[in-house]
Amino acid sequence: MSATARKSAPLPDDIRAMKGATPIVSLTAYTTPMARMMDAHCDFVLVGDSLGMVLHGLPSTLGVTMEMMILHGRAVSRGLSRAMMVVDMPFGSYEESPAQAFRNAARLMAETGAAAVKLEGGQHMEETIAFLAARGVPVMAHIGLTPQSVNTLGGYKVQGRGAAAERLLEDARAVTRAGAFSVVLEKLPSGLAERITAEIAIPTIGIGAGASCDGQILVVDDMLGLFTAFKPKFVKRYATLGADGEAAIAAFAAEVRDRSFPAPEHGFTEEAPR
Ligand code: KIV
Repeated sequence: MSATARKSAPLPDDIRAMKGATPIVSLTAYTTPMARMMDAHCDFVLVGDSLGMVLHGLPSTLGVTMEMMILHGRAVSRGLSRAMMVVDMPFGSYEESPAQAFRNAARLMAETGAAAVKLEGGQHMEETIAFLAARGVPVMAHIGLTPQSVNTLGGYKVQGRGAAAERLLEDARAVTRAGAFSVVLEKLPSGLAERITAEIAIPTIGIGAGASCDGQILVVDDMLGLFTAFKPKFVKRYATLGADGEAAIAAFAAEVRDRSFPAPEHGFTEEAPR
């Protein structure tokens, strides 16, 4: 199935069925115009809690709230008609218990129209994922570098090197057993991502996990060059919108100061045009 040939948005089961067939294409989005730009090109769009850093200037994703996810989820849903929407569960909204996770996942889905939620964690989230999946909440899992755990992972480091590889494989098996319909693999050795992808029955969506994954995701502000505070090694910049935007703003400022903007064609005359 390709995003351009599809008539209506896929469901989580359709994404699951893409394993081993067509590469799954996804990006993050936080606003209606951005969602419109990617709707025809992506299989699913993630309203990621990365919005805390790239849109709201927070130092990490830890300060992102349910209200922020709902506000941006609703904005993104207005820009999508072909791609499936997944919304991230923010830090603190699901870790306490399966019941807390269900309450907040149901709220995210009901108030944004998302087809699925994403949450971070492997083996320790197995019970929660199974609880949600059994109650009608499709779950995309996220293992490897899980940014909400930055303070216990010792920073934004590559995960799963050496002996830690077995633990990540176990995480992948656990979320598959629990009924996740797909899993994001973030920042781990490409060879390990290849092993995980070959072994588990659900699609792997890579970000910094090499080319063997069943799909790829990037933060849209990174790949468009809008977020320039830092650039992870795994990001490829396909545009320089941040630099282009600043140049455009500088040109506007100069033209206002030298009174070359607005020009006569930007103004109105006394007479209405016929
Ligand atoms: O929040 C986010 O944008 C994400 C992606 C990096 C997968 O979780």
